[in-house]
Amino acid sequence: MDKLIISGGGPLSGEVRIAGAKNAALPILAATLLADGPMTISNVPHLHDITTTMELLGRMGVHLSVDEKMHIEVNTDTIRDFYAPYELVKTMRASILVLGPLLARFGRAEVSLPGGCAIGSRPVNLHIDGLRAMGAEVEVRGGYIHASSKRLKAARLVLDVVTVTGTENLMMAAALADGETLIENAAREPEVVDLADCLNSMGARIRGAGTDLIRIEGVESLSGTNYEVMPDRIETGTYLVAAALTGGRILIRDTRPPLVDAVLHKLRESGAQIETGEDWISLDMKGGRPRSVDIHTAPYPAFPTDMQAQFMALNAVAEGVGMITETVFENRFMHVQEMQRMGADIRLEGNTAICRGVPRLNGAPVMATDLRASASLVLAGLVADGDTVVDRIYHIDRGYENIEEKLASLGARIQRMPS
Ligand code: EPZ
Repeated sequence: MDKLIISGGGPLSGEVRIAGAKNAALPILAATLLADGPMTISNVPHLHDITTTMELLGRMGVHLSVDEKMHIEVNTDTIRDFYAPYELVKTMRASILVLGPLLARFGRAEVSLPGGCAIGSRPVNLHIDGLRAMGAEVEVRGGYIHASSKRLKAARLVLDVVTVTGTENLMMAAALADGETLIENAAREPEVVDLADCLNSMGARIRGAGTDLIRIEGVESLSGTNYEVMPDRIETGTYLVAAALTGGRILIRDTRPPLVDAVLHKLRESGAQIETGEDWISLDMKGGRPRSVDIHTAPYPAFPTDMQAQFMALNAVAEGVGMITETVFENRFMHVQEMQRMGADIRLEGNTAICRGVPRLNGAPVMATDLRASASLVLAGLVADGDTVVDRIYHIDRGYENIEEKLASLGARIQRMPS
């Protein structure tokens, strides 16, 4: 397994271009299963999760072609089966997103249960309950979801937990259902809006995406389209924090500032000087040490859980004491014990981490456990004396495009060590 070696250094400075959003590209790739005819998706990030999804669709008989700019053309005319095997689903939970589209367009689906992951049990009960409410026969047997249905029928779905991929799966299923489906307590994440915009460009009739009540008027069929994926707000936030915790400065391009309002608010609170434009954000710490901030994660538009680990790294070297409360996932503090090994002064009390900042951390061998935790350990390595070796970085390759090149271009001393 590859490792990343980071040698602690001084402030980062420079410019980074943001890639397309992983968590928008994944549901949009699944949505191609709904299209009668070819479609092209652009601004797709070059990530392992994307190639996994392309392999998943390819194995079903879907034809995909990719050009050097990662424009993906998809044609489902040659699809021959509706099966998502455990060997692929276990590496990427988001594979569950093919369930709704397969059922809606082909009336059949056999999708492996994703199983849990490091950050939590990650159930999909709300996906299944919603599809059953729309008339699908769904049986969970042998680790697989066996689903079948004539044309799905509209329903009023009330989600008792805000679920991003649950909202996305049910919205895709409802796009071809008979009648108008309501999704109440829907996730409001920008990636849900990007998916809805893509579906509407295919001929769907979806209103209210981005609010907690989404109305989907089912149509007979959807056509292909050309769609450009939105920028990645979590990649944006990650590089902003990298500059902030090193006391540096950065210009982020090809992003969308309103997507990271909650993160910008916390970075300003931490002492960062921030300017924004149409598609860029500049951050400058004027060489100063960040101040500790309190974080409380919750569904959008509140502070995103996917930025929690990165701010743990910032609080680890900030001035003061910061409290971080994680309310979305039940086990998303595994990066804490790794940072403690680097000398961070963090105490856990239930789902709250109390972090007293220290001026510098100490480099150490650490282990990545999930996508965002691995990014936070790389950030911690930037402000640690000596070398930090981050192991199991396949996690990081799932969600960050060329992270070592981008950080090195900002002045970080980082290299990949093939195992
Ligand atoms: C999406 O995961 C993202 N992944 C996650 O990003 C992100 O952390 C998460 O939303 C929250 O923002 C993708 O979009 C591919 P959830 P998702 O369903 O949809 C509970 C990353 O780093 N729940 O919103 O799987 C669940 O247990 C990844 O890119 C149920 O109880 O998350 C959790 O406590 C990590 N039953 C809460 O809802 C269900 O049927 C939110 O989970 C579904 C979810």
